[in-house]
Amino acid sequence: MDAAALPGPDATRVAVIGLGYVGLPLAVGFGRALPTLGFDINRARIDELKQHRDHTLEVSPEELAATTQLRFSADPADLAECNVFIVTVPTPIDDAKRPDLTPLESASRTVGKAIRPGGVAIFESTVYPGATEEVCVPIIERESGLRFNVDFYAGYSPERINPGDKQHRLESIMKVTSGSTPAAADFVDALYRRIITAGTHKASSIRVAEAAKVIENTQRDLNIALVNELSLIFHRLGIDTSEVLAAAGTKWNFLPFRPGLVGGHCIGVDPYYLTHKAQQIGYHPEVILSGRRINDGMGQHVAQRVVKLMTQRRVHAAQSNILVLGLAFKENCPDLRNTRVIDVVAELKSYNANVEVYDPWVSAEEARHEYGLDLVTELADGKYDAIILAVAHRQFVDLGIERIRALGTPECVLFDVKQTLPRAAVDDRL
Ligand SMILES: NC(=O)c1ccc[n+]([C@@H]2O[C@H](COP(=O)([O-])OP(=O)(O)OC[C@H]3O[C@@H](n4cnc5c(N)ncnc54)[C@H](O)[C@@H]3O)[C@@H](O)[C@H]2O)c1
Repeated sequence: MDAAALPGPDATRVAVIGLGYVGLPLAVGFGRALPTLGFDINRARIDELKQHRDHTLEVSPEELAATTQLRFSADPADLAECNVFIVTVPTPIDDAKRPDLTPLESASRTVGKAIRPGGVAIFESTVYPGATEEVCVPIIERESGLRFNVDFYAGYSPERINPGDKQHRLESIMKVTSGSTPAAADFVDALYRRIITAGTHKASSIRVAEAAKVIENTQRDLNIALVNELSLIFHRLGIDTSEVLAAAGTKWNFLPFRPGLVGGHCIGVDPYYLTHKAQQIGYHPEVILSGRRINDGMGQHVAQRVVKLMTQRRVHAAQSNILVLGLAFKENCPDLRNTRVIDVVAELKSYNANVEVYDPWVSAEEARHEYGLDLVTELADGKYDAIILAVAHRQFVDLGIERIRALGTPECVLFDVKQTLPRAAVDDRL
């Protein structure tokens, strides 16, 4: 049984499937080096990209215009001309915090319909170890009628992009690669080396590469959970957590994590992919899930601390005016997905407070659609009984303490979730 030949370097035609925060920079990276098709099921996204606009702000209009070998399409028929399919679709969790593989399965069907002998399907979406070969490959086999590792091959190369980060870019972050056969692994590795200047790390198998990705974010989640738990303890002890961390951080091996809300598409989500797989095979993770519980409770904790401080000043939370500065899941970025600022807002609203949320970065329409929130666009001086600096967007830092204070009443409680403002200038912080 002769195995189909992998595409040669000059015959490689890449399709990137799913042009979000991850897929678009990748498509641009490949589009600079070789013929590339950017594919997305969302026609509006394709239309904006054809006009060189990227609402995620990861790629500038100039970069899009300069990427001459990149075309965009929402028509699956256009995938027929490609022989390498890189899947970068979302991998969310459902309401019960179980992996929702619907987009990944649907993208695998798309690949299965387009792939020809010698084709390679590479997955970048974050998954649990085994998902590529147990879930995606069988779908491709079924749709294409081709045999795995005989007629077509697979690879996994986890995404490491950091939205909003203009310093660590696709090209400058070392990329982990893997393939379903030794030759496929070499092919995938060489493909990425064409665009990643920081180099590649070829993992020994797809499952190793999948596991490596999911633990990157699990480790980060747990490290933040530890400092969040420390901040809960120190708050009860009347000690300022940032001051403790600054002191402890003078030791060379103390890790510089800070307390906060853990939101976004990755860190608060990916650990559930790993714990799901662990539970499937009869192991019930304790450390990982307790870290998740701590982090998921921080929004409520912030709101309760603010209400307590207001009550101590004889300001009733019900009908009070509270301003939340920032809704995005992190600073200087428009990404609203899985923002945990929403937990702060929900808890404050449960006290019947009037909560106003202001965020110059995010789309008002998306905030309404995703969270039923109408963002305010104007801030009134002297209005707010409490102000919560939830996200350290540079606009808020630039405002400065005096302008922020001027927005509040004389008794206004100012809470700094991100430890951005000087300690003495705020009433409390995490
Ligand atoms: N955003 C990050 O910081 C980040 C970092 C590391 C890893 N990841 C992982 O990368 C993956 C993608 O994340 P993202 O942030 O780019 O998501 P995203 O929501 O920004 O973009 C996903 C895109 O895929 C499209 N899409 C959905 N289903 C599709 C389908 N069946 N066929 C074609 N297109 C489809 C959507 O229309 C959207 O444009 C996820 O697994 C995520 O966990 C994300």
